[in-house]
Amino acid sequence: MKIIGTGRSHPSLVVTNEMLSQFLDTNDEWITTRTGIKERRIISSENLVDLAIDAAKKALSDANMDAKDLDYIICANVVNEYITPAMSCLIQGAIGATCPCFDLNGACVGFIYALEIAESFYRSGKYKNILIVCAEEPSRMVDWHDRSCSVLFGDGAAAAVLTEGDNIKATKMSASCNWDRLYQKHELQYSPYNSKPNSNLPLVMHGQDVFMFATRASIRDINSVMKQAGYTSDQVDHFLIHQANIRIINNIKQFVKQPDEKFPLNIQKYGNTSSASVPILLDEVNKEGRLKRGDIIVMSAFGAGFVSGACILEW
Ligand code: ACO
Repeated sequence: MKIIGTGRSHPSLVVTNEMLSQFLDTNDEWITTRTGIKERRIISSENLVDLAIDAAKKALSDANMDAKDLDYIICANVVNEYITPAMSCLIQGAIGATCPCFDLNGACVGFIYALEIAESFYRSGKYKNILIVCAEEPSRMVDWHDRSCSVLFGDGAAAAVLTEGDNIKATKMSASCNWDRLYQKHELQYSPYNSKPNSNLPLVMHGQDVFMFATRASIRDINSVMKQAGYTSDQVDHFLIHQANIRIINNIKQFVKQPDEKFPLNIQKYGNTSSASVPILLDEVNKEGRLKRGDIIVMSAFGAGFVSGACILEW
């Protein structure tokens, strides 16, 4: 397949590190040096689904495609206002599409998992035009009293439209179950048959374990897709890395021995927006005119599970 349109949508509220330090025992210096984050967008008056719809419409407009021509919609999402129906259904109705759709919980790797699934759907010969929407609201998950977790995340949505082409050169997905390093449990409704305690608890993260996993997995996956597709890192024009922590990105940069210009960043503005992170970055570099036809792009992400994934494609 090839990507022919991108779009993104952010909540209006900008929450700076200084704003967090008003109610958390933290400061701009700690957050900036440990993570690279200066501010993030947080949902206040908006609904996540409206951001997802906005991003989807912008991507369709960028692709010059009518929603009626879509053959499938895949929405990457961890949590939103509804447990059911799937957010992809809400998006489908709002944009006027008639195709089937489903949601995918791939944590922060949702976009790359969705790209590989879209490519497989296309290769099956059944579907041609596929919309991927990634919409995430980690602010709904974190404990806002927990300085080690809440400062890292931001909310947002981004989308991409794909159609026939042979631009996706290689993908590599992985999962290794280390669930207790990064997780959140669902709230249990009252049941006369189930006496388990209610577990309405916030996101739990063991940051240093996640950091180590993320660095190793990303380097391994990037190597794998470059090798599969027959490219060296010198031949790659842009490395779009999940914007979780600037220090993870710097480790990856050192490993592939490529200059800063090849590693676009927006972590300082948005923090970690989970699966929306890579497609938000993709839309930014696309709209800034930094992508030329034929450019080689590597994308890499990692997240709860642990899961990880990378993809190499030609623009
Ligand atoms: N402000 C000030 N101090 C803080 C803060 C804060 N916001 N958070 C933690 N600290 C303190 C800790 O309490 C600790 O204090 P202590 O030494 O007195 O106990 C000290 O800072 C050091 O804490 P560490 O956890 O050792 O700090 P570290 O350098 O490991 O950085 C961080 C923590 C930023 C979370 C890092 O481990 C990290 O980024 N990990 C990866 C997290 C990540 O990427 N998660 C998401 C990936 S998956 C996904 O996207 C869903």
